Amino acid sequence: MAREAWRSEVGFLLAAVGSAIGLGNVWRFSYVAYEHGGGAFLIPYLIALFTAGIPVLILEYAIGHERIGSTPLAFAKISKRFEWIGWWPVCFVMFGILLYYNVIIAWCLGYFFFSFDLAWGSDPDRFFFQSFLKLSSGPGEIGEVRTPVLLGSLVTWFLCWLIVGRGIQRGIELANKLLMPLLFLIVLVLVGWSLQLEGASLGLKAYLKPDFSELSDPKVWIDAYSQVFFSLSLSFGIMITYASYLPERADITKMAVMTALADSGFAIFAGFAVFAVLGFMAVSLGKPLPEVVSESIGLAFVAYPKALSLMPFGNLFGALFFFGLVVAGLSSSVSIVEAFVAAMRDKFDYSRRFLTNLACAVGLLGSLPFTTQAGLHWLDIVDHFLSHYGLVPVGILECIAIGWCFSIKMLADHINRISSIGVGPVWIFLIRYFVPLILLVILLGDLYRDLKAPYGGYSWTAIILIGRDWLLTTLILAFWLASRRWRTDHHRRPGRTVIA
Ligand code: TRP
Repeated sequence: MAREAWRSEVGFLLAAVGSAIGLGNVWRFSYVAYEHGGGAFLIPYLIALFTAGIPVLILEYAIGHERIGSTPLAFAKISKRFEWIGWWPVCFVMFGILLYYNVIIAWCLGYFFFSFDLAWGSDPDRFFFQSFLKLSSGPGEIGEVRTPVLLGSLVTWFLCWLIVGRGIQRGIELANKLLMPLLFLIVLVLVGWSLQLEGASLGLKAYLKPDFSELSDPKVWIDAYSQVFFSLSLSFGIMITYASYLPERADITKMAVMTALADSGFAIFAGFAVFAVLGFMAVSLGKPLPEVVSESIGLAFVAYPKALSLMPFGNLFGALFFFGLVVAGLSSSVSIVEAFVAAMRDKFDYSRRFLTNLACAVGLLGSLPFTTQAGLHWLDIVDHFLSHYGLVPVGILECIAIGWCFSIKMLADHINRISSIGVGPVWIFLIRYFVPLILLVILLGDLYRDLKAPYGGYSWTAIILIGRDWLLTTLILAFWLASRRWRTDHHRRPGRTVIA
């Protein structure tokens, strides 16, 4: 059967941008920037983007395109012994990161409805942790499944199922063609609206005012690289898969640059809305800005609701904001379900329908622990382990496998034959030496910190059983899948170019 293909390059770009733009762009980037020197953070961020983000994105596009395969297939076509490197991210993102990511989207969905009558009342903090999540005292105390969260998760998994089940052109491409312009419009309205608020300029000043002294802190640089990696969905196994559906002639480098710039542009721009609202809140409450600033879950579910209650038409603003988060998140979720479905199809030849059913049913079950009263604790631990000890090692392995054990010069030739912007020795140097080294520094730093004291103040038992073992289970699953016999002969055929 012929491989599916994108209808157009724009369709591919929107899907890739849809995967890259996620919750992280909205609720994390602006905070990291604010913490790390405001406008001056653009320097390490852009350097990270051009020395690691874009080069690795080019690498992932190129390998998916040249080997014509989902992540495990692409690696198997390099060498059978690397196949597991392709399976591992697919397993721990699909059966790890995505399980709680979809639950967070479910919370956003809940908050979309709560917005209409500002249901959180005067104490959003209490509402979120005690009424909505009914958060237990620790990861060992599971309590019961929270029905509203479960219902939301049913919806998010259903939407993933619907979109991925319809295939590349009629599902993923179509969904992103509708969702991405909608998301851009929503953010445009939110930014325009929030800039009118009293105190907006106070927030923006804090977000953008450059403090160059921060740049001497290595932590700032490390965070810039981590943010770039997570935000571009690198080493998730997604971009390789998406690129495998490109036609023979595709301007790989140009598309990598465009994806990266769209992703960062969106993050910087969305930051205006985040900080304008925080500035407004500080002025309304008569508090200094640093007291109201927060990130991720605290920002979306505590700080923002608080501000919405103070704002004229805050209910509409809130509905738009949470709807935007759902859209941004969903287009990322879909991308990893596709990475899994594509991998299993390439290897075992099951139908898309069957695999989508399987992925979403198992996914929904796997989300259950995160919908319980201990859900947020579990989320915190699993997220920490998978993103630090899963994504980062995979990035290193990818660079080593392709940079050292494969003819990366041949890959560069392939890229240069079809792209408008060429790659050369600098790119090869970055992939071979620079990126793995940076990632190794990040990995060792995390390891050192986590061995000294258990992450987040959780007990060692919780850390080991929930964090480490979750990651190890996905690794075992990856080895097992890699050891299975190929039911298709895709892996026997070389990619587009034959290596000598
Ligand atoms: N890049 C996304 C972000 O910034 C994260 C992401 C991409 C993701 N693909 C994903 C998360 C798949 C979960 C599943 O938030």
